[in-house]
Amino acid sequence: MEPAQKVIERCRLIAQCSDEPGFTTRTFLSPATMEVHVLVKGWMEQAGMTVRIDAAGNVRGTRAARDAGARRVILGSHLDTVPHAGAFDGVLGVVMAIALAEQLDSLPFHIEIAAFSEEEGVRFGVPFLGSLTLTGGLDDGLLQRRDSAGTSVAQAIRDFGLDPARLPEARLSDDAVAYFEFHIEQGPVLDRLGIPLAIVEGIAGQSRLMVEFEGQANHAGTTPMNLRRDALAGAAEWILAVEREAGASRGLTATVGQIEVRPGATNVIAGSASASLDLRHAEDAVRREAAARMVACAGQIASRRGLSVNCRERSAQEAVFMNEHLNRMLEDAARDAAFAAHRMFSGAGHDAMILARHVPSTMLFLRSPGGISHHPDETVRAEDVAAALLVGRRFLEILGERGV
Ligand code: GLV
Ligand code: MN
Ligand code: MN
Repeated sequence: MEPAQKVIERCRLIAQCSDEPGFTTRTFLSPATMEVHVLVKGWMEQAGMTVRIDAAGNVRGTRAARDAGARRVILGSHLDTVPHAGAFDGVLGVVMAIALAEQLDSLPFHIEIAAFSEEEGVRFGVPFLGSLTLTGGLDDGLLQRRDSAGTSVAQAIRDFGLDPARLPEARLSDDAVAYFEFHIEQGPVLDRLGIPLAIVEGIAGQSRLMVEFEGQANHAGTTPMNLRRDALAGAAEWILAVEREAGASRGLTATVGQIEVRPGATNVIAGSASASLDLRHAEDAVRREAAARMVACAGQIASRRGLSVNCRERSAQEAVFMNEHLNRMLEDAARDAAFAAHRMFSGAGHDAMILARHVPSTMLFLRSPGGISHHPDETVRAEDVAAALLVGRRFLEILGERGV
């Protein structure tokens, strides 16, 4: 089968491994992750790689260079998904890396593919648990985080048959000189421009917060409208204020994608409402100031409505730039393969955000038809996968010739 078509079929096969029948939903170290590990490990082995599952459940395949003292290039992306995901976010980068490894003969560096166990932050509210493992960032504080069922990250690792005490062995090895990630764009820019690929200049910073409004649960039929302390009405007012604020600030995105209302009955005024906030901007100062304004706004709404509010930051990642030296090589690789060397900034978070602080890193985006992502309709064109494989292969050749 033609390599690009094979990549797409493999992604669609992985999409069938799900924690939720009828959808693609795979959170950190969930049962469906086991099935994906079997597939990915098998494909890596067929590509001549030696494979291990590290203590955070990242699948790590290595193909050694002839020269044992060679440096190491890491290719990677993630295997977890958002709820009701498409087939390509993250998985495409892993499967394409395996396709490249299949095509490569001898190279002047060791190739390691890291298929990360967690990037989305769905299960524990904090993203990048997989890639943080490589950089030593999966610390005790993160290991104690709990999911909605009360299970800690450390316990989730043990439940999967792994040992958190062995996390230090999963660290990036000292010989790593570059990290490269293929990923779908997940937005409309390339589709609108009518071009297949883009070199990623940098990745927007992101903050994730939980905002909990507390009021008084009471009877829906007997409590007069002017005597209510309705937590959900407070949250609703705040959500609209967040939308207005982000709409008025260039380049800022603010999303409330999750809300939990208690006790959650038709005939009971909401006693509490917890809302998530996802805030992103290419400039960290703009994001931080916006977060402070949104927190202050929650306080004002709460005090006017007789509610209390508690805002907690669950995670924050600063914006990062990709390595310019690698980006120029990627640009040359695109030109050599006769594709436009378009550059763009990423609004989505990626594992490269974490790796970039420790090793020179870059990414290649593939057009997202219709700009749809984090949705079952997410897709990719076979010709774009073929183009990206060509550029990726040429990039590794150039990297071998010029070094980092
Ligand atoms: C990951 O997909 C993110 O940007 O939220
Ligand atoms: Mn995603
Ligand atoms: Mn992703």
